[in-house]
Amino acid sequence: MIRSRLCDLVGIKYPIIQAGMGPFSNNNLCVAAANAGVLGLLSTSGVFDKEIQPWIYKAFVETAGANFDDDIATVMEKVLKRTTNLVKDKGGIFGINVMVSAEVLKYSHVIIDTAIRVREENPDMKKHFKVIFTSAGDPLGWKDKIKGAGFTWMHVVPSVKGALRCKKAGVDVIVASGHEGGFHTSWEPVHSMILLPAVVETASDKETLVVGAGGFCDGKTLAAALVMGADGAQMGTRFLATQESDFHQIWKEGVVAAGDRATLVARGFVGPARWLKTPRSTEHAKNTLQKSPGVFLGTPDDFTTMDMSLIKFEIESIKAVFEGNKEKALMAAGEAAQRIKDMPKVNDMVQEIVRETEAILRDVPKLLA
Ligand SMILES: Cc1cc2nc3c(=O)[nH]c(=O)nc-3n(C[C@H](O)[C@H](O)[C@H](O)COP(=O)(O)O)c2cc1C
Repeated sequence: MIRSRLCDLVGIKYPIIQAGMGPFSNNNLCVAAANAGVLGLLSTSGVFDKEIQPWIYKAFVETAGANFDDDIATVMEKVLKRTTNLVKDKGGIFGINVMVSAEVLKYSHVIIDTAIRVREENPDMKKHFKVIFTSAGDPLGWKDKIKGAGFTWMHVVPSVKGALRCKKAGVDVIVASGHEGGFHTSWEPVHSMILLPAVVETASDKETLVVGAGGFCDGKTLAAALVMGADGAQMGTRFLATQESDFHQIWKEGVVAAGDRATLVARGFVGPARWLKTPRSTEHAKNTLQKSPGVFLGTPDDFTTMDMSLIKFEIESIKAVFEGNKEKALMAAGEAAQRIKDMPKVNDMVQEIVRETEAILRDVPKLLA
């Protein structure tokens, strides 16, 4: 049986994190993942944008047992209670993924404050809702709030510099996210094969765990993460293409159909983003090259300096996904899409990943003979 420090820290069976994935919701996917024995993460980016992208809010509340008229705090309270109810029989463990980048910081505070309050008011929730996972921003300054409330705190970084910042901030689990990962990716293209061992060497110790993200999608890649010294792997694209995933069918099918060299990088809402390669995303990449070349040069830009027509294009294209319009849709996914050929049930998939990882790890010592 594979077991790592990650399992012991949060009480999961297998050292796998189902990544939080926006923008719509992965409320049902999180339940299925938690019940399959891995850490399920609720994405919360779907509640950011009721005014500008109401279709995203609508999709989120529909899978949260909430109403369109509810405010963010009420929606969060409902989704946390719903998730707890649906995982408690199987002892599932879950958390929330909250982006803390400058563009969305005011919402991050509402979400995290609500999570802390609701968990305090519902002591039963403490057995299941154990993790706050922050992303896309600076970890410094969040420790007292998150750890003070008794959560395990995870934060995702794209660099060794980011990992050192996490150490300073007091993060429990650093998730090193390589450039091959789906959707939000880093300004500089450092991939998991380099990033993960570098972050392990820099940051892994008695207090701090390290998990790999970006390209992990099966037993081979999970075994590699563990052999590289990580405490587990976070998987996004792999969980996206599952039966229980809340993603639109055209998005899931897009991942399964993706072949060799199936993704590209272009501007996304909070920085560079990795999309499935389609005529629409190719057009977006060409526009990015003209209007926001820093994405390809590793030079960050933001809403004060960039051409907002890129964001407008993304918003229209995400709406097209919601409407099932394949031609206009932009669908994010990681390079792992080219290795994903099926759309299994989450539990079957987790069991297969675990079986394959165990078989590989059992054979590793033979390499020394
Ligand atoms: C469709 C999609 C949406 C994502 N949305 C978010 C998000 O809202 N916030 C975030 O921190 N990461 C997001 N990610 C990144 C994942 O959390 C994870 O780090 C990444 O998928 C790992 O790489 P992989 O796709 O190769 O497994 C998203 C990834 C995908 C594929």
